[in-house]
Amino acid sequence: MSAPAPARLVVLVSGSGTNLQALLDACADPAYGARVVAVGADREGIEGLARAERAGIPTFVHRVKDHDTREEWDRALAASCAEHLPDLIVSAGFMKLVSEEFLTRFGGRVVNTHPALSPSFPGMHGPQEALDYGVKVTGCTLFVIDGGVDTGPIVAQTVVPVEDDDDVESLHERIKVAERAMLVENVGRMAREGFTITDRKVRFGR
Ligand code: GAR
Repeated sequence: MSAPAPARLVVLVSGSGTNLQALLDACADPAYGARVVAVGADREGIEGLARAERAGIPTFVHRVKDHDTREEWDRALAASCAEHLPDLIVSAGFMKLVSEEFLTRFGGRVVNTHPALSPSFPGMHGPQEALDYGVKVTGCTLFVIDGGVDTGPIVAQTVVPVEDDDDVESLHERIKVAERAMLVENVGRMAREGFTITDRKVRFGR
């Protein structure tokens, strides 16, 4: 029997794209069970797009300001994702929220990685807020996106210590090392094993 086709990943980025790079590197191994078929962004000129181009992966960009309404931007983004027939959409440092319509269109197969231990510190400033609060551990969370801000069913979490002399950059960098490993391991499992969600509990397997 031939091996199943690798799962098709569309990855969305807004910045340096180190999480995207970790996925691209993992996908080089056929046993990983997934491949990145396209990379989308909400801005031009970012390293995340350059990483995709170097890897020979198609890219698309939709800037909110180029659309009359947020809804039109969201539909344009969804249409570009859909062209690549994704099995899973991975928001990896994508600094925009997508709509319920977007999520429904892809059957809830949209995940996001967040640099905090949900439900703590949702939003754009997870590492800074963890530092300001004075927590001794923080971390990262991979979750299936729902209608809220970083509130969706949790796929995986990794704990990262906060050191006494951390600033936001050093803490975020430590989180990102853990985040890349978490993302690669768990996106691979979602691709190879499938997943179910019951009462917010995400379980691998079909
Ligand atoms: C990651 O830490 C990701 O969790 C965070 O941006 C970073 C992107 O890094 N995302 C958010 O804060 C979304 N709310 P990368 O561009 O190097 O992958």
